[in-house]
Amino acid sequence: MPTCNFILFGVGKLASLRCTARDAIHRKERTTDTLNTKGVVLRRAAYLYDLLEPAMMFFRHNAMASAMSRALNLSPTHKVLDIGCGTGLVTKKISVDIPQGNALGVDASPEMINIAKHKRESECCHFENALAESLPFESASFDAAMSSMFFHHVDLKLKLACLNEMKRVVKPGGRVVIADLDRPWSWFGNFYGYSGYIFFRQPEIKENLEGCMPSLMTEAGISEITAVASFLGCIKVWQGIF
Ligand SMILES: C[S@@+](CC[C@H](N)C(=O)[O-])C[C@H]1O[C@@H](n2cnc3c(N)ncnc32)[C@H](O)[C@@H]1O
Repeated sequence: MPTCNFILFGVGKLASLRCTARDAIHRKERTTDTLNTKGVVLRRAAYLYDLLEPAMMFFRHNAMASAMSRALNLSPTHKVLDIGCGTGLVTKKISVDIPQGNALGVDASPEMINIAKHKRESECCHFENALAESLPFESASFDAAMSSMFFHHVDLKLKLACLNEMKRVVKPGGRVVIADLDRPWSWFGNFYGYSGYIFFRQPEIKENLEGCMPSLMTEAGISEITAVASFLGCIKVWQGIF
């Protein structure tokens, strides 16, 4: 009996530790200053994000950003939109290729945007607090659009709404590049992807791991969809044309 109590106590403690860590890293908060979305918005995590994200990506973040930049096929004056930009790590990297253009990162989290502005804003790199599913921009006002590790933060309906918004604001024939979770193709990819799903208890991650992205991209009217790079056994970089 004491052994049984001890095991139950241990399991309980582990479960509460997992909840505390999850809340600290990935907490969905809805306060009055939050834009209203069903997406998983990272607020407190913003302060640790620049340390956490590279580690959680096993330091493949830069390689992924480079692959995205190549896939965007940018010219120096291009205007590019990055949705769910977080602290702007990838937005900043893309902006280096468009010195006379503009990379604009949007995120629903005011904390993420404050940090991005403080650390990464420049002549050709800007940030705005906005929702990916209702972008405050005119139609056909960007040459290309991109997002990295954003789509597993929104459910199927919102994923499609965000893709439709990207299509609306990009000029016809413009490029789209998306990096995100896909159906795993290795044991490590399965381990990495599904442990993220279990740890964060985020059904939106499972949708990605079940391979929803290519069909949603097609449904949103993206053509010539090609996977141009892959990472960690479950992350793909897709490019396509609007
Ligand atoms: C995992 S982070 C990715 C950040 C960045 N793109 C990167 O690769 O480092 C996903 C971001 O999406 C944001 N997000 C969630 N729902 C959103 C929405 N509906 N509109 C805009 N951003 C949203 C979160 O606040 C978070 O910063």
